[in-house]
Amino acid sequence: MQKSVRLKSFDLIAQDIAEADIQLLHALSIGVGWPHRPADWEFLRRVGQGIVVVDGIGRVFGSAMWFPHGTDFATIGLVITTPRAQAQGAGRWLMEQVLEHCGQRDLSLNATKPSYSLYVSLGFIPEATVFLHNGIAARLPDLPAPNGTLGALPVDGIEEITAIDTRAFGADRSQLLAQLAKGGELCILRRDDRIVGYAMRREFGRGHVIGPIVAENDDDAIQLAGWHLRAMEGRFVRIDTREQDGPFPALLEQAGLVVGETTTTMSKGRRFLNRTAGAPWVYGLAGHALS
Ligand SMILES: CC(C)(COP(=O)(O)OP(=O)(O)OC[C@H]1O[C@@H](n2cnc3c(N)ncnc32)[C@H](O)[C@@H]1OP(=O)(O)O)[C@@H](O)C(=O)NCCC(=O)NCCS
Repeated sequence: MQKSVRLKSFDLIAQDIAEADIQLLHALSIGVGWPHRPADWEFLRRVGQGIVVVDGIGRVFGSAMWFPHGTDFATIGLVITTPRAQAQGAGRWLMEQVLEHCGQRDLSLNATKPSYSLYVSLGFIPEATVFLHNGIAARLPDLPAPNGTLGALPVDGIEEITAIDTRAFGADRSQLLAQLAKGGELCILRRDDRIVGYAMRREFGRGHVIGPIVAENDDDAIQLAGWHLRAMEGRFVRIDTREQDGPFPALLEQAGLVVGETTTTMSKGRRFLNRTAGAPWVYGLAGHALS
């Protein structure tokens, strides 16, 4: 695989993203209107791997990352080329290298509109729409009492959610969850002495992200999201969900989180989203690049 590329007057080379200046990565994402803070890039570099394309004097023209979960699955994200270098082949070149690095792993990503045709041409199949809800969290109406016991889970109890998360997500992402939980807030719902759902919240971008949200049904998902939304009243919150209709997105709208954008969950290899009635399901994504 070629490790350098020529775009018009620029000779670009690929480098490990771990070596890139975080401020240049921040400038790259700002350039395409994304909300990531330098701290969000730091976090993503801790939990994933990636490459950047740079020119001879170290300017960053593009990035792409992958996040291995277990031994045979990875999510892809942070695929960006700077606007002045777009439509010249750099995005495809970055993605070809990501695919080489990911080898035989099954893959999933959430495609923005500008990237959709690139991923189709690389063999990714669309599975679902993601609705990016965000806004200033409004006061929630009273919710019915939860079916079970709802409360905070300390960070050192994080292994308790691994089993339900693996069933919902379809791969073991316990290492990622442990990192997400550091500095975040976590609530769980217990029923009949077992964990039937959980939701996390952490700082991201303009405010906070609530996610992952994992639950067995809409009512539980609403209780878990509501626990965080109440704590966030008056502050900027984002929740990415694949729920299009029904009580869960209705709650988000009631909470003032409107759909700002939609993206498409796509996969290459095994199908990623496999929903079974009554089984745990991901109601809220961990993050756009993390799924
Ligand atoms: C998506 C993105 C990374 C593509 O990067 P790029 O450097 O423009 O990609 P390429 O030049 O390699 O083009 C890849 C394909 O995209 C399509 N494409 C790119 N620019 C296009 C344009 N201006 N009009 C129409 N199609 C275009 C083409 O289908 C092209 O396929 P081809 O190789 O057969 O010509 C870039 O547009 C970007 O950073 N967008 C903003 C951030 C984003 O949405 N990232 C995706 C996250 S999932």
